[in-house]
Amino acid sequence: MLSVGLIGYGHWGPNLLRNLVAHPAFHVAAVADPSAARRLASREAGHDGALYEDGAALIRDHACLDAVVIASPVSTHYDLARATLERGAHVLVEKPLCTRSSEGEALVALARRQNRVLMVDHTLLFTGPGDAIRQLVRQGRLGRITYCEGQRLNLGLFQPDVNVLWDLAPHDLSLLTELQDELPVRVDAVGQCHVNPGVPDIVHASLRFASGWTAHFHWSWMSPEKVRRLVIGGSDRMLVWDDLASDGRLKLYDRGIAVPGSAKAGTMIRPAYRTGGWEALPMAEGEALARLVDHFAAVIESNADSVADGARGLRVVKLLEQIQFALDRSAATTKKPS
Ligand SMILES: NC(=O)c1ccc[n+]([C@@H]2O[C@H](COP(=O)([O-])OP(=O)(O)OC[C@H]3O[C@@H](n4cnc5c(N)ncnc54)[C@H](O)[C@@H]3O)[C@@H](O)[C@H]2O)c1
Repeated sequence: MLSVGLIGYGHWGPNLLRNLVAHPAFHVAAVADPSAARRLASREAGHDGALYEDGAALIRDHACLDAVVIASPVSTHYDLARATLERGAHVLVEKPLCTRSSEGEALVALARRQNRVLMVDHTLLFTGPGDAIRQLVRQGRLGRITYCEGQRLNLGLFQPDVNVLWDLAPHDLSLLTELQDELPVRVDAVGQCHVNPGVPDIVHASLRFASGWTAHFHWSWMSPEKVRRLVIGGSDRMLVWDDLASDGRLKLYDRGIAVPGSAKAGTMIRPAYRTGGWEALPMAEGEALARLVDHFAAVIESNADSVADGARGLRVVKLLEQIQFALDRSAATTKKPS
């Protein structure tokens, strides 16, 4: 059995604890959280191992530790993941891996030197829809992908140390890295700050890639409705993932356009439409975190490749940095609506 420590028992930590406890490969030996109330909550959830007030102390002082799971605020990820790897334990870090690509590069290199697993909780890759989209793209069923548009909207949850981009975008960007291995050649982004000046709670971003295709995203903590929607346009098929739809969450449309080879100069092209039907794609049910925890155990035990390894986490951080750079450039970001 792998002895594991869990750092951070706030909103997300309980989900990780529940899945770690349920997995036969793991024994949760310790939990760390500075909040006495949160440590008590871990006891009430059945954790009977050691308790620490700080993640660094857990990593430094706990005698037997094969792995650490980090679910503390984003700003703590780098130091805690580095200390875990330096100690010689495997680490699963919540998304995003860290706040700078230089830190991500250092973690990936350290994990390689230490021969330890560095994984990121890119949960979306382990959901039924995320897994089905990855397979569909790998099988080439969409044809040549030309665009992707996503919306991930909620009312909150406002985070203590990051803006909405670094909170919500890692999910969609982890899937985007499945569709596209390049980094964008152009990024535009605008944000709005309704609560904290300089901390956008709504972000719209457009990414353009060298191959010509584009990705557009809308992330928000200011929406009255929860929306989880992604459209991927391909030359052969188009895909719509609407996680809250009642008539099929993942629809593959046999629809598209055909542009005639030649058109008279100066005239608007009228494409031909392919208006086929749609099929609801089957997908695995069950909790994504259970699959992720199982994958973490398998990667540790068999030294297998991970779909959510440090290298992918780093690519997501690089994309976040590019979008943040574009946001910083945009005057709207710092303007508080009156
Ligand atoms: N994968 C997902 O779908 C998902 C969903 C929600 C949150 N998250 C991620 O989980 C992480 C935590 O988010 P949250 O919403 O649970 O935040 P949270 O603020 O609710 O919880 C964080 C907890 O960490 C504790 N903490 C702070 N510093 C610590 C330290 N040095 N050592 C130990 N504990 C410490 C805090 O007291 C708090 O209880 C973030 O990285 C977030 O992006 C992931």
